[in-house]
Amino acid sequence: MSHYRMPILEETGYVVLNPYPDPIDPGEWQSLAYVDWKSSGDTRFAPLASAEGEIECNGFWHGRLPRSDKNGVWITSQVAKAPTLVQRAQQSEANVGRCRVIELQPNSYADALYNSHLDDNNRLNPDGEGWVVRCFMQLTDNPDSYMVLRRDVDDPATETRIALPVGAQLVVDSERMWHSVWHVGNEPRHCLITSLESGPELEKWIFRNDPITCVASDPMDVAYGAEQQDRARQRRTARTAHYGYDPTNIRSEA
Ligand SMILES: [Fe+2]
Repeated sequence: MSHYRMPILEETGYVVLNPYPDPIDPGEWQSLAYVDWKSSGDTRFAPLASAEGEIECNGFWHGRLPRSDKNGVWITSQVAKAPTLVQRAQQSEANVGRCRVIELQPNSYADALYNSHLDDNNRLNPDGEGWVVRCFMQLTDNPDSYMVLRRDVDDPATETRIALPVGAQLVVDSERMWHSVWHVGNEPRHCLITSLESGPELEKWIFRNDPITCVASDPMDVAYGAEQQDRARQRRTARTAHYGYDPTNIRSEA
């Protein structure tokens, strides 16, 4: 036995969907309670669903009754503040695990490469059930910022950069694809991130939203890209020396 994985993610590990068409009141994510949480970059998280309905972001395997990243418990006080976000997270009717809004401060391309990681989505996921993937729904309008995906974290040739205007929606096998966000500007970026179980419900929703499995990246100046890549590599090497191991090899718990 193994997990059910959606064929549409097989080729590239991601799928970009039609943008969400309706405006959402920014008050929904601005009024939420945020917690500091270790993640890639300068971030805070506002959980909407957690292991036991508390305002915290732990992996469900850390709870009193350790379990897989499914059947998240909606947090009453947060749901009251962000009903539209909750409705969006449930839109596919797939099983929802962790669900949260991330707030990311502006950074550089080198920062994004330094922060690139794999997620820990499938710990304790029983054989035969659906592989847990992540849905990213962009809330703020950041058309010049990018989700940076790589098949191989050390190989720029495997990179895809997906622009993040308001409403952008993508589903990523984020335990397979290295990912991070390069966010430019002066204001933080907000995005709704939801763990979803692969299965017929999620597939139907994806196909209702005109999925694109291969996006051409906007061009980047070659010298700039190489310089930023080098800077990130040097910082990662220093980090490895500091810790005595490479934290990049450990899946993110965020
Ligand atoms: Fe991640």
